[in-house]
Amino acid sequence: MQIKSLEQYEESYKKSIENPEQFWGEVAQNFRWRKPWYKVLSWNFEEPNIKWFEGAKLNITENCLDRHLEHSADKPAIIWEPNDPEQDSVTLTYKMLHEAVCRFANVLKRNGAQKGDRICIYMPMVPELAIAVLACARIGAVHSVVFGGFSAKSIADRINDAKCKLVITADGVYRGAKPIPLKDVIDDALIGCPTVEKVIVLTHVRTPVSMLKGRDVWWEDEVKHVNAVCEAEEMDAEDLLFILYTSGSTGKPKGVVHTCGGYMVYAGYTFSNVFNYQPDEVYFCTADIGWITGHSYIVYGPLSQGATTLIFEGVPTYPTPSRFWDIVEKHKVNILYTAPTAIRSLMSFGDEPLEGKDLSSLRVLGSVGEPINEEAWHWFDEKIGHGKAPIVDTWWQTETGGIMISPIANVTKTKPSYATLPLPGIQPVLVDENGVEIEGNDVSGNLCIKFPWPGMLRTTYGDHERCRQTYFSTYPGMYFTGDGCLRDEDGYYRITGRVDDVLNVSGHRIGTAEVENAINMHAGVVESAVVGYPHDVKGQGIYAFIIYPNHHQDADLTKKDILQTVTRVIGAIAKPDKILFVSGLPKTRSGKIMRRILRKIAEGETSNLGDTSTLLDPAVVDEIIEAAKNKQ
Ligand code: PRX
Repeated sequence: MQIKSLEQYEESYKKSIENPEQFWGEVAQNFRWRKPWYKVLSWNFEEPNIKWFEGAKLNITENCLDRHLEHSADKPAIIWEPNDPEQDSVTLTYKMLHEAVCRFANVLKRNGAQKGDRICIYMPMVPELAIAVLACARIGAVHSVVFGGFSAKSIADRINDAKCKLVITADGVYRGAKPIPLKDVIDDALIGCPTVEKVIVLTHVRTPVSMLKGRDVWWEDEVKHVNAVCEAEEMDAEDLLFILYTSGSTGKPKGVVHTCGGYMVYAGYTFSNVFNYQPDEVYFCTADIGWITGHSYIVYGPLSQGATTLIFEGVPTYPTPSRFWDIVEKHKVNILYTAPTAIRSLMSFGDEPLEGKDLSSLRVLGSVGEPINEEAWHWFDEKIGHGKAPIVDTWWQTETGGIMISPIANVTKTKPSYATLPLPGIQPVLVDENGVEIEGNDVSGNLCIKFPWPGMLRTTYGDHERCRQTYFSTYPGMYFTGDGCLRDEDGYYRITGRVDDVLNVSGHRIGTAEVENAINMHAGVVESAVVGYPHDVKGQGIYAFIIYPNHHQDADLTKKDILQTVTRVIGAIAKPDKILFVSGLPKTRSGKIMRRILRKIAEGETSNLGDTSTLLDPAVVDEIIEAAKNKQ
């Protein structure tokens, strides 16, 4: 299944386009199925209705666990590196992980969970998070992991949207020096979540928590009451595996739905190929399991391939900015997959944190989540890979389930800040604003995909029409990614960033409308408009223009209050980096905010704002420019 040369890539690619069903049917043979499919693919992008491996039966955990027991039972499946470097790391072999998953699956059943139930997981980056995810999959429950940085309100919205029956959480999480409560946040969230019947709480940081009688139970107690035998539930290839909420251009995050069969095949195939994973290698992805990268490339992809996956609880700069490099040295990491924002942040500390660190085990480097600028690419290449480890700049999305456009390690010639070529099975097209395909090379346009792939989303939970409208209606007959892209003279792809109202802050997707809604909840705010601007470390920063008539009384305090409101409503990740109080916003006569102008002002541009003649009140722009200048 592994591509080893450019010729093989070209051959596979050609085959995957000419005969996708045969191609994916063969790839799927590398997985364990209880019953084979009768049809590899049926699809239309109009509804959309996409089915892969129809009729097939499987359980993804048999692929991630059981099938490795025969030959690799004692191989490390998970290495856990805690936040505190003084604390011992933990290794779980495939046998141990299998046992832990089966045991916890029985705990879920004991607490009333059944196939098809939705379960919300809000946990730190500990092995038990992976165990919880896999235990859900084991019994056919649908997991909805919510990143630990989201607020109570965000959790409640997600729990209610999916009508979750259970919540799995921990007392708290260590992030850097201080423990942060998690169970408290869940308690606040659950005030408004009538569907939740049980909460399972893991002890981790040992902060006191209050347990609600009849609802809350301790993980440690529960596992004592069950055994470690749990037959995997037989799932249909198109049964739901998980929901993962992600931001779009509207104020309400969407529950992206992935299903069992196609997702498994795609995550496993892309993991094995893109990183060129070799048996016995240690693979370290620094993402959080709360995001799609963690789902596909910490848990399902690596484990389905029998890999050793490293889970790190902490942050790159604690206790020092050498932390990643210490981990690489300590665990002899061979493959390191991280985000441009982390690279830029570590780069800013200079060479000192790298001194004396043995990074010679590194064979492949990866980047994900946002465009990687050339400076960061070269630093990663030279200082971390010592010019010997290829960088795979992997472009993909929550919705795509797995990597779509990326170099294949040791196969594709890399080029700084280019995601390079589509993986087999992926048919990218660039289109102009009328939806006309732009052919040839040295062109740019909006990035669409014109043929299904097994890992693609099937729907948005509870609202199929929203899925159709968001992804399949802008350019009929194609999946629209929301990204702008160029194709150079060699046919290499470079992603230039979002073309919709979605921001990418430190690799986190945040909708401008979501942030505006949160700001507008603050008493005293009349209206707001949020745009992104280039930020040295985060990639994009958040710039908020806010109409707040009484801000003069104490502008700094008001700003603090507003930031607090955003933290309460969404989470700290959505806090604006800059706030500018204005008396009006540039609107067209029909009342639409002209963000283009605000974006330019946020970038520091004061002239060349483009056509402002359609504005209702062009004088507003001068006022904003003046206010922005005074602020600097
Ligand atoms: O804009 C693209 C950017 O991240 C978006 C997807 O975000 P999310 O669903 O949170 O998934 C992130 C992890 C897969 C895309 O629409 N993006 C992701 N990878 C890259 C990228 N932009 C440029 N280069 C990449 N390698």
